[in-house]
Amino acid sequence: MMAARLSFSNITALAPMVRVGTLPMRLLALDYGADVVYCEELIDIKMAQCQRVVNEVLETVDFVAPDDRVMFRTCERERDRVVFQMGTADPERALTVAQLVEKDVAAIDVNMGCPKEYSTKGGMGAALLSDPDKIEAILKKLVTGVGIPVTCKIRILPSVEDTVSLVRRIEKTGVAAIAVHGRFKEERPRHPVHCDYIQAVSQAVSIPVIANGGSLDLVKKNGDIEEFRKATGASSVMLARAAMWNASVFNSQGPVPVERVMEEYLKYAIRYDNNAFNTKYCLCQMLRDKVESPLGKQVQAAQTNAEISNAYGLQEFYQQIQEQQQVRRDALQNGSQPDKPVMDGDVITMAVKFERREYPPQITPKMFLLEWSRKEKLEQPFYETVQRAQDRAFQSTVMVAEKKYRSSLWEKSKKFAEQAAAIVCLRVLGIPEGRIGEEDSGLVCKRKRERKVNGSAEEEIINLRYLFITIVSGHYNPSCFPYRIEGILFRPKKQKQR
Ligand SMILES: Cc1cc2nc3c(=O)[nH]c(=O)nc-3n(C[C@H](O)[C@H](O)[C@H](O)COP(=O)(O)O)c2cc1C
Repeated sequence: MMAARLSFSNITALAPMVRVGTLPMRLLALDYGADVVYCEELIDIKMAQCQRVVNEVLETVDFVAPDDRVMFRTCERERDRVVFQMGTADPERALTVAQLVEKDVAAIDVNMGCPKEYSTKGGMGAALLSDPDKIEAILKKLVTGVGIPVTCKIRILPSVEDTVSLVRRIEKTGVAAIAVHGRFKEERPRHPVHCDYIQAVSQAVSIPVIANGGSLDLVKKNGDIEEFRKATGASSVMLARAAMWNASVFNSQGPVPVERVMEEYLKYAIRYDNNAFNTKYCLCQMLRDKVESPLGKQVQAAQTNAEISNAYGLQEFYQQIQEQQQVRRDALQNGSQPDKPVMDGDVITMAVKFERREYPPQITPKMFLLEWSRKEKLEQPFYETVQRAQDRAFQSTVMVAEKKYRSSLWEKSKKFAEQAAAIVCLRVLGIPEGRIGEEDSGLVCKRKRERKVNGSAEEEIINLRYLFITIVSGHYNPSCFPYRIEGILFRPKKQKQR
């Protein structure tokens, strides 16, 4: 089933934060009540080199760099809520990255507010604010090139008029929402936020405006979120530091002591094998002025998630998770279930490749799937194929009886990708796929025996075709066809006798 398009109206969001907005923090924010969670800014050049990998041990989807670093890790739980924020100054590259991640995230955001040199020197972040043509080109490219909402996050310009005129131009590109950090690009986080600018923007456009910048002085607890929304006239609110310090700011039931929040965070970090230095960094932000306490010192000295777990008395939890993951790893490695299907969102996947030499000439899994679908009176299998930019490889998803099937391996051609998808479907359903030397499936035989003796003429033709394919491919098994052969071969004679 297609997920509903993410709405940015009347929501509370976890803001994008480098090093903070990784999977454990995003899940924690969702637990406490955030509606939408932004990932940390990821730079387009780095992301474009990544491979999408389904991590069956962690049950995540990882985008892995050539040096094996996981640049972006996500999971099913956040798929309809996570916004992928990128740093970019290039429309083509932005689109490549957006298309790489679009099936695994709910929306794409472009960072147009980061004043840090690593961003601006490449023309990214706040540097884009002085190049509205570039902004327009990037956003238009994304809006027309992906099927999920596109948003952007800006800082305010020196005058209200300039800010309003920029956001009006941005709105025309078709973006779903715009986040406004109410500070000038030269201002530091300690400066007061300019609610009046955000208000002017909110009045000027009809798309949702997400107010940001209130953490320091305006939003200290959950109830303040609504006050900030009112003060800015915005549709929604986005929180960075308030959430980084204590993610329970999203909790409408009231704050949770930071000690418990840290523990919950650490459990996610262990469960999702978060980078230990990233885990440490986030915990130190939560410790704030307690970073020099005995606990803080232990955290700072730790080098691994195991050592951090010890500091919080979570060694048993850590051990349990390690054991669970080892069991999964062993099961995957010893090949005890090589064909085990794995859910990737709403798609059933298996790691299979289509090897032409394994099938007789003229016979393909797609043919088998089509014939089977006709026999079962199902709609014709529907194939949808994507091509990834970095190596131009193809991956196809086939829809059969409202279920989707896909091979997790990429193929060199669209035709092969479709065949691989068909194999996954046939294997999951236990139907022969036409391979040389393949034994007939008991399931198919059983289905055939269950059929009534009298079928329609159309059914006879379909059965005859299926019979022909199984004979040609060497899959013919008389026990599968006792009634049908009789029906096909002898019916005309019987009719004559009448
Ligand atoms: C640690 C940290 C990292 C940040 N990284 C990003 C980022 O990756 N992308 C972005 O657009 N803004 C980033 N920001 C800015 C925040 O998203 C936000 O605009 C700013 O902190 C103001 O919001 P606040 O008052 O709620 O903190 C970062 C802020 C912090 C504190």
